[in-house]
Amino acid sequence: MGRLQGKRAVVTGAASGIGRASAVLFAKEGAKVVCVDRVAEALEGTLAAIRQAGGTAVAQAADAGDEAAVKAYVERCVAEFGGIDVVYANAGVSGGGTPLLEQTVAYWNEILRINLIGPFLAIRHAAPLMVKQGGGSIVMTASVAGLRANAGMSAYASSKAGVISLAQTAANALYGTGVRVNAVCPGLIETGMTKPIFDGARARGSEGKIGQLNPMRRAGRPEEIAAMALFLASDDASYVNGQAYAVDGGLSSTHPFAGGALKLS
Ligand SMILES: NC(=O)c1ccc[n+]([C@@H]2O[C@H](COP(=O)([O-])OP(=O)(O)OC[C@H]3O[C@@H](n4cnc5c(N)ncnc54)[C@H](O)[C@@H]3O)[C@@H](O)[C@H]2O)c1
Repeated sequence: MGRLQGKRAVVTGAASGIGRASAVLFAKEGAKVVCVDRVAEALEGTLAAIRQAGGTAVAQAADAGDEAAVKAYVERCVAEFGGIDVVYANAGVSGGGTPLLEQTVAYWNEILRINLIGPFLAIRHAAPLMVKQGGGSIVMTASVAGLRANAGMSAYASSKAGVISLAQTAANALYGTGVRVNAVCPGLIETGMTKPIFDGARARGSEGKIGQLNPMRRAGRPEEIAAMALFLASDDASYVNGQAYAVDGGLSSTHPFAGGALKLS
């Protein structure tokens, strides 16, 4: 039995990186998955990987920050699979490296729309159906950038701090319903979003420095975030609610000393 056997799930941002790894893992663990991204063609690789593993999935093109599109992906899950048990609201954008004093209102609006209002809309449209079913799990991707500074620019970090608050406040707003809401806070993971960081380091020959500020001394892989998303989505986490878990090699547990200042030998 897979850990999501019989569950009906949506994963947003499923064409790349963390969302893709999660959609594939959810399907391998028995979930039927609606894979959401901006354009359907971009989801072909994810769908092929799922089908190759013997899983079931469909592609849904949607802007994860647009209310009509969110309503449509929830309805698609119900129409295809007969209900909705899990939403992993993972789609996000970094906003690049625009310095604070050059950030405009339009720039902030777009980042908050996708990164924070998108997960709110997932809750807004999926939770009522989950309540009727007697329960469900909503997982969102926050970031270590939402915990403290220096892992993203201000708009991005603020949006992710908002996602952490949304996990806490929505879990409590859904008091007594059996619907759980949690977030994952990834550290630095090699994905489409962080490709320029990794490409730049490789070009400079400084790849070995990536991840040096965390005690694992490396960057993470999308599959390592998918594993936490799977846990939170599954009944294994049946008493886990309103939390935001860092999956960052220990980065957010440390003061910023490179090289393990207090290591034993
Ligand atoms: N990579 C990291 O180091 C890292 C760290 C912390 C948090 N995160 C978060 O993880 C999540 C996944 O990012 P990733 O690193 O896998 O990046 P990625 O760029 O590889 O994947 C993000 C996916 O989301 C999709 N997407 C973006 N905006 C969308 C929208 N409006 N509607 C639908 N789909 C949309 C993109 O097309 C892409 O396929 C994001 O929320 C990101 O902020 C990433």
